[in-house]
Amino acid sequence: MNLPVPVIAIDGPSASGKGTVAQIVAERLGFHYLDSGALYRIVALAAKDRGISWQDEAALASMAPQLHIVFEHGEILLDGRMITEAIRTEDISRGASEVAVHPALRQALVDLQRSFRKTPGLVADGRDMGSVIFVDAGTKVFLTASAEVRAERRYKQLMEKGNHANLASILQDLKLRDERDRQRAVAPLQQCEGAKLLDTDHLTIEQAVQAVLDQYNASIEKK
Ligand code: CDP
Repeated sequence: MNLPVPVIAIDGPSASGKGTVAQIVAERLGFHYLDSGALYRIVALAAKDRGISWQDEAALASMAPQLHIVFEHGEILLDGRMITEAIRTEDISRGASEVAVHPALRQALVDLQRSFRKTPGLVADGRDMGSVIFVDAGTKVFLTASAEVRAERRYKQLMEKGNHANLASILQDLKLRDERDRQRAVAPLQQCEGAKLLDTDHLTIEQAVQAVLDQYNASIEKK
């Protein structure tokens, strides 16, 4: 019998550090990596470029499958243009969380996300990896931290990049996005069944990575 390609699904709120943890776990295991949030960011950017409103569900859903997206050596290309940095602005972060509420758009991105599942395995991070996209994932993690700790992490990240940042407005924005992600009707942010809670308030990145690897190793031993 062929065993399914293993998936480690890491979901959690904004700035919880799940992207960093997921990438390191993928590297250590030699697995592929899917940054599903990047897809919603790309849709927000592409819509803005084309003059499509972030509220126009039908137009967003029909645009999405036509986008030519390439993830390569840590860079992201959209229709041949390098957009790695362009999708990380505060404006596009807001856009991503606005377009992500539309069920038709989410549906349009399902096959693309599942196509990342290739041998020897996949680490996928987002909001609905364990609950919707890879329901049969052998390892599911809900990686979180308090809003205050997450705001501080994002603040430091921005300052290190030389960007101007304001802690209070970052915190306010985070809470707003958390709210939108949790309240939406389709694929809301939540700790899904079978997902293990990993609170990183008092964990270093390395400790969080180790906790995910331990959980993955335990899941293989069970088989
Ligand atoms: O970096 P941050 O965690 O703030 O965001 P991200 O993971 O890049 O995701 C950007 C936005 O896409 C989030 O605010 C979510 O609303 C949405 N998203 C989603 O709805 N489902 C996913 N699987 C991933 C992201």
